[in-house]
Amino acid sequence: MYFKFIFCVFVTFFYQSSHVFGNNFPKLQLVLIDKSNASNSVNFTLDQAKNISSHPLFNHLLTTVVYSFGYTKTLNDPLVTTIIASYSKNRMYNLIIVDYSAYSTSNLSPPSIPDYTATIKNVKQIGFLVGNALWNTFGMKLAINFQLVGHSLGAHLSAFINRAIANATDNSFHMKIPVIIGLDPAAPLFFPFGNSTTMNDPLKPSDAQIVYVIHTDSVYFGAPIKIGTIDFWPNGGSNQPGCPPFNPTTSIADFNNYCSHQRSVFYFSEAISNSNLKTFNAVKCNSWDQFKKKMCFYLPFNLNNMGLYPTLLTGDFYLQTSNTSPFSLGFKGMFYNATI
Ligand SMILES: *[C@@H]1O[C@H](CO)[C@@H](O)[C@H](O)[C@H]1NC(C)=O
Ligand SMILES: *[C@@H]1O[C@H](CO)[C@@H](O)[C@H](O)[C@H]1NC(C)=O
Ligand SMILES: *[C@@H]1O[C@H](CO)[C@@H](O)[C@H](O)[C@H]1NC(C)=O
Ligand SMILES: *[C@@H]1O[C@H](CO)[C@@H](O)[C@H](O)[C@H]1NC(C)=O
Ligand SMILES: *[C@@H]1O[C@H](CO)[C@@H](O)[C@H](O)[C@H]1NC(C)=O
Repeated sequence: MYFKFIFCVFVTFFYQSSHVFGNNFPKLQLVLIDKSNASNSVNFTLDQAKNISSHPLFNHLLTTVVYSFGYTKTLNDPLVTTIIASYSKNRMYNLIIVDYSAYSTSNLSPPSIPDYTATIKNVKQIGFLVGNALWNTFGMKLAINFQLVGHSLGAHLSAFINRAIANATDNSFHMKIPVIIGLDPAAPLFFPFGNSTTMNDPLKPSDAQIVYVIHTDSVYFGAPIKIGTIDFWPNGGSNQPGCPPFNPTTSIADFNNYCSHQRSVFYFSEAISNSNLKTFNAVKCNSWDQFKKKMCFYLPFNLNNMGLYPTLLTGDFYLQTSNTSPFSLGFKGMFYNATI
């Protein structure tokens, strides 16, 4: 099914033109969010990145989140404004957005495979440049209170950023960002066969001390396999409740087909705006089938909260959610209920 879908995309768009940008990304910017008024946020080119740490909106006492959105998204997209609004409700974080929208565009709707391929190529260089700019600005502080968070293609961009930082430490001390959070990391052209065969170096467990992944569309647009140190599989990790069934005949042209892929952002946003331990309770389990049979060990070290503070627990965690916002079912979400 997955292979058929990708094949279909190829046949439809193979002959469209592509747009590769050079090494120079003048419109790439880091946007420091004003959490009290998002429209008052401040843009920094990479040359100006050093100014971030002295800006009054930057609080040195807080953990800093560097967020990368997905392919063709912009700062005004609802998936991005939702993230901004949620972090604005949470006092623990500074929020910086990697605005690479100028280099992640398409002249076509839906975008073509060559456009997406060109964007992946850009994203690898952008990750390198952003990683080096962050290293020059924050140095060893990156090893302490920084998190890279990204949705879809942005999850892989987060990995590229970390790899540049690790590299910038001159290989004498392979410094890693403490946490990368991947929200349904993109599958197309990263996991081309819907299995563990990879291309383009996707996010992997060794990319940060903790790689935390929320899988919501593991059959079509999201990574098909575990790629974190800790992976959450809400509702089994695909086909989210409240989302229409995937329509392979319309595939990427059909907005409804992105519903499950986008749910990772809405679950995560709900979790960071609530930030309490009654939200998105999840239990470690061997599989969704075992979860459905309630064959998980409900012991303290097997329990977690999806989207909240990443912990040093490892493994696969399962939970159910509701089909509409608010999505968390709290503790009930740990015990399978066939009627949801
Ligand atoms: C938010 O910032 C914008 C741009 O600086 C400004 O025009 C607007 O008045 C601000 N809104 C509030 C409520 O302060
Ligand atoms: C920041 O960049 C965005 C485009 O990414 C633009 O819409 C906005 O006007 C810029 N803000 C300032 C203050 O230059
Ligand atoms: C960045 O900082 C330098 C000196 O610290 C200053 O001259 C410059 O105006 C600042 N630029 C911005 C965009 O804030
Ligand atoms: C790491 O650094 C080497 C040498 O400076 C460079 O050739 C390579 O492209 C870098 N890799 C990454 C992922 O930044
Ligand atoms: C993934 O699927 C492809 C195509 O079906 C197959 O050739 C390949 O061996 C598979 N790889 C793994 C690791 O299962």
